[in-house]
Formats: sequence, structure tokens, C-alpha cells
Amino acid sequence: MKKLFFVFGAIALMCVACKSDEQKLEEKVESYLSQMTLEEKTGIIHAQSKFSSAGVPRLGIPELWTDDGPHGVRPETMWDAWTAAGQTNDSVTVYPSLTCLAATWNRDMADLYGRSVGAEARYRGKDVLLGPGVNIMRTPLCGRNFEYMGEDPYLAGEICAPYIRGVQSNGVAACVKHYCLNNQEFKRHNVNVTIDDRALYEIYLPAFEKAVKEGHVWSVMGSYNLYKGVHCCHNDITINKILKGEWGFDGALISDWGGVHNTDEAIANGTDLEFGTGTNGVDTNVENAYDYYYLARPYLNKLRSGEVDQTQLDDKCRRVLRLMLRTGMNGKEYYGSMNSPQHSADALAIAREGIVLLKNDNAVLPVSADARKIVVLGENAIKPMAVGGSSSSLKARYELSPLEGIKAAFPDAEVVYERAYQGEPTIKGYNYSLYDLTDPRTPEQMLADALAAVQDADYVIFFGGLNKAKYQDCEGRDRQDYALPYGQDTVVEALAAVRSDLVYVNVSGSPVAMPWIDKVPAALQAWYLGSETGNAIADVLAGKVNPSGKLPFTFPVSLGDCPIRTELQYPGIAPEEEKGIWEQEYTEGIYVGYRWYEAQNIKPLFAFGHGLSYTTFEYGEAKLSSKRFHGNGVTVSVSVTNTGKVAGAEVVQVYVSDLEASVDRPVKELKGFAKVYLEPGQTKTVKVELDKRAFSFFDAARHEWVAEDGDFDILVGAASDDIRTSVRLTL
Ligand code: GLC
Repeated sequence: MKKLFFVFGAIALMCVACKSDEQKLEEKVESYLSQMTLEEKTGIIHAQSKFSSAGVPRLGIPELWTDDGPHGVRPETMWDAWTAAGQTNDSVTVYPSLTCLAATWNRDMADLYGRSVGAEARYRGKDVLLGPGVNIMRTPLCGRNFEYMGEDPYLAGEICAPYIRGVQSNGVAACVKHYCLNNQEFKRHNVNVTIDDRALYEIYLPAFEKAVKEGHVWSVMGSYNLYKGVHCCHNDITINKILKGEWGFDGALISDWGGVHNTDEAIANGTDLEFGTGTNGVDTNVENAYDYYYLARPYLNKLRSGEVDQTQLDDKCRRVLRLMLRTGMNGKEYYGSMNSPQHSADALAIAREGIVLLKNDNAVLPVSADARKIVVLGENAIKPMAVGGSSSSLKARYELSPLEGIKAAFPDAEVVYERAYQGEPTIKGYNYSLYDLTDPRTPEQMLADALAAVQDADYVIFFGGLNKAKYQDCEGRDRQDYALPYGQDTVVEALAAVRSDLVYVNVSGSPVAMPWIDKVPAALQAWYLGSETGNAIADVLAGKVNPSGKLPFTFPVSLGDCPIRTELQYPGIAPEEEKGIWEQEYTEGIYVGYRWYEAQNIKPLFAFGHGLSYTTFEYGEAKLSSKRFHGNGVTVSVSVTNTGKVAGAEVVQVYVSDLEASVDRPVKELKGFAKVYLEPGQTKTVKVELDKRAFSFFDAARHEWVAEDGDFDILVGAASDDIRTSVRLTL
């Protein structure tokens, strides 16, 4: 008998031991939930300050702390105000903007980025890092393009998933945002988006879907706009049916700040954590304003009166408790780290890999090591870019400017600087960084001084673009013009007239017009590169690093080339009353970015996936693991050879073209990529897996993905407009 007891006891112990972490976590969720009072339950589903929500001290459940943002951890704010608290210990490593990360086309860089920025968030005591943003670039004018990952849903999904896993490896939740259809800043709180299901599922949802299914993201941020007339922070279709239903998301849906407008909808439509609802935390609504949140006292009153039962409340609490138990309450020894040399190295590595060489006629670049005189021009060579852009704005522990980087990289050269143009002389980022670049000269004098300076220079490098000031890549304000601001075109034209070897470096998170591009032999897309800006850009200019970035979005020649052509498409039709709803329709459907330009045979300035190198690459013939697709996948392989004199990295892009579809489909769509590093003369074989989804379109009538039988071309190349080899497959 004793023996039997021992055996059963051992089996029971093993069962307990073999319980998965998830099972143990769920048991804790149920245990806490069963002990919580009604007040405690409603207490943890809404904010108690600008960036935190309450815990349950009686049960030892701590507060939950969130903070921006995707590129680094935001400075501490006042308890409930956007104003910075003026602390002296919250300057951070600033990482490159997410468009730069997307431009690396390197999943390992995304993982590195997430691990690194997540460690800074953990060290700062944050349980949730409010990023990444993955909204698709539908118009070059969107103010937050710089925070996102470009125009293609496959690329955005492939890059956001490892970023999310990286962040969460620190015991910090990522919060993929803004879910969904938040593709402009103009009237972002009042725009009601109408879109067909096919475009919704094929273009605007995939990155979020991959964040959930492959990134296993622990929280999702609802967006401000409306979809089908209902705010996306409490939208039954997008949250209950798609996110939590079809995708099985088990985390918490966090509202954007001030994105909740209705108690009944927030209760029924899946809002789990309400943040930022109108209150200054002190005197709005007279009494303690947080009690007036939609999911606070109004909800409690409905529960107490029996108007609503606790079903939804318990689901919300389970999701918030799960978020807490995965982060601040996970019992693991995560300490994180901040401002370490390693984080600087991480930021530098990502920045270096994201810079895109747009053109390099006559091999103007790289700058030779024995350059005597280098003239650096433009405000963007000196302007701090960590500050600005609104909620992703950061207090940099340091930020090396392009000018500083060039001086450090060419110690023996005479490096002369001229402003050439003036943008915003001062910028005030949440009062933690006020600098004044005011220049008393007139634009004409600035230009004259610049032209004088370039006369006997070996190299002339102009830094222009946008600067995260209002309307220039900034949340809350779309750009009002596709052209470069501050009269830069005039300056570049004048410089190009006297220097046929002018180098133009574009600092931006969005495409811009470049009417003078044929007169400029060399150009780089340099993004907002963060703390290590100066070193990254100087390394590429000097050839210490061979550029390997590829554009995550198209540079159209002009705004007129874009798929957005009517007011209904953008910014939407204005309502009668001031605070009314702007009706908008994505009539372009799936034809966004290169999908549009290729369907319309519109030649862009620079194509999606474009990016040159200081070396050259040759592709062999693409081969398939089988000529016929057998349902579970097919492998495309191609050999790539570095046929130049310097080592470099190539991004092999794989596009799928459906040759006989029953529906209209784009000319081709990105469905795979791989980055390969090659020494001069070296050859490697690159393999890319294509699953059934890679051949499918979303059939709205059947509400499912469909891969139709027939022929497909698999197109392999160095850019969407640089296909090197192709192979046919029959489904
Ligand atoms: C902002 C942004 C969101 C940010 C949040 C907190 O309005 O839309 O991206 O994380 O509020 O700052």
C-alpha cells in the first residue's frame, strides 16, 4: 500500500512539475481573480496616472507601468500631465526610428533592437513599452510614417515580430500599435474609415496578425480613428471578432490615450485597459478624475445595479492580470540595463544597416581617406533629432550629429560647416530639451556663404530632409506638402550648379520630392538614426561600412503619382459640425505603394526595396524545391555572388506573381526575403520558404485566404524594380 501511495504521490508531483508556465500563470490569474472585489476589479482596468494603472495592494498586486516609445524610453512625466517631470536620471540611448529598422530588412537586427530597448524599459521599471507601430504607409504625408515600417505588410510583419519577442525577453510587454487603420494624423480622433475586407485583411491587418501569431505580443493598442462608425479602442469587429476571435489574442487591448469615448462600447467591445481619458488628474470632474473614467465609476454603477454582469469584467481582469504576471509579477530576476556601451553599439549597428544608398554615379562615394577639405552643409547636419515627433520624442543621453561624426571620421581633413538653410531654429520637446539654432543671416546670405565655402572642397555633402518639427514627420500633424521644406530645393539646385559631385543626404522618415535628383550624382536615405547618428552616417560615407539598406517604401516622383487622389480617400470628407466625423474611404483598396505604381506603370523616383552597395552582386538562376506546390510549402533557392572588390550584404527579395487569378491582383507582392553577407568573390546559396499564404488572396465573400490553382511566377531580385531571375510554379 505504502509503495502504491508513493508511486501515485510521485506521479502527482511530476504532474505538478510538468505543468507548463502558461498553466501555472493561468492558475495564478484565476486565484487572484477569485479573491478580488468588484472595486478592485474595476480598479485595475483603467489608468491611475498618465502612464500607470492601479494594482491591488491588499493582494500584493503591484501597479502596472507603461511608457513610450518605439525608439527608446520616454522621460518621466508629471503624475498626470504630458509635461516632463524634469528628472536627471532618465536620459536614454536613442535607437534609430522604426523605418530605419525596416530598411535593414534584417530580422536579427529587429531582435537585437527589441532586446536592447526592452532592457532599458525594464531598468526604468516599465512593464509595457508602447511600441512598435506598424501602420502601413498609405500616403507619404502621414505624420507618423517615421515611427512605422513602410508600405508592405509582409516586411512590416517580418520585422515587428522579432522586435516584439526581443522586447518581451526582458519581461516587458510590447504594445503593437495603432490597431487599426490609423494611417493619417489629420483629424485622427474623428476619421471614420470605410474599406473593403480584402484590403483590410491583405494590407492593413497582416503586420498586427503576425505581431500576435509570431510575435506573441502581450498587448495591443487600439487606435483613435473609427472603423464602420465605431471607435477602434472599443470596436467589436476589430477587437472581439478579429483580434481576440480569429487570431486568438490572449493579451490586453490598451486604449490609445484618450481613445475611449463610451462606457457601454468599452464594456462590450473588448477594451481591457483605459488610458488617457480626458482628465488632468487634478481638478477635471472636480472629484478624483480617474474615478470618472468610462471603465471606472460609470462601469461600477452598472455592475452594482445589475445592469451588466461580471462576464466582460472578468475577461478584462484576466487579460490585465495575465499582462501583469508576464511582466512585473513574473517572479524572474530581470534587471535590464540602460545607456550601456552595448546599447550604443546596438543602436550603431542598426543605424549602419538601415542607411540606404539611393544613387552613386561615377562612384562619388565613398569619401576617400585622404580628403583634404570636406564641406558639410545643411541644418540637418547639426540638428538634434531625438527630440520632436511628439510621443516618440526622447531625452538623449547623447546624440552625435552628422557633422560631429564626419569630423571624427576624418581627423586629418579640414571639415567646414555651413548652415545653407534654416528650418526651425528652436524646438521644445516636453521642456526637456530646448536648444536654439537661430541664425541672424537671411536665407540669401546663408546660401551665398555656402556657395563660397564649397569652392575648393574635395567633397561637398548636403544634409537636408525633414526634422520631426510640426508638419515635418510629427505625430498629430500630417505633412502639408511633398516637397522639402525651408527652401531646400533652391539651395540644392544652386549647389548642384557649381558642384557636379554634390552628395545629398536625406534625413527623414518619409519619402520627399527630389526635383533636382538628376543633377546630384550621389544620394543617401539616412533616417532618424538616434544617438549614434554621426558615427553611422560617417562610417557609410567613409566606406568603413558598405551600405546594405533597402527602402521599405517607394519614393514617388510627385504626390500626384500616389494612389490617394480624392478628398474621400484623404483626408476624408469634412462633417457639417466642427467636432463631427470625417468620412473617409480607402477606395484604392489593395493598391498601396509599389502595388499601385506597378499596376499603373508609374515609374517612381526610387522603388520599394531599392538600395545600392559599394560592391556588386550577381544572381544565379532561381530554383524551386518542386515545380508543383503540395500544400505545405516550397523552397526557392538562388546563388548570389559578390562580384565587386569590397565585402557587402545583399537583401534577396522574393516576390510572387499570380498569372491567372480569378480576381484582380497586383503585378507582384513581396512574400520572402533574406539578407546575405559576402566577401569579394564569395558565393552563397540563399533559400526562402514560401507557404500557402504566399500564393493566396483574401476572398471576402468566403472570408478566408484562397490560393487558386494555376501558374505563378516567383520573381527574385535586389529590388521591386530590379528582378534578376524568376521561376514558374504551378499550384
Ligand atoms: C499618443 C500616441 C500613442 C502613444 C500614447 C501615449 O497619443 O498615439 O502612440 O503611445 O499617446 O503617449
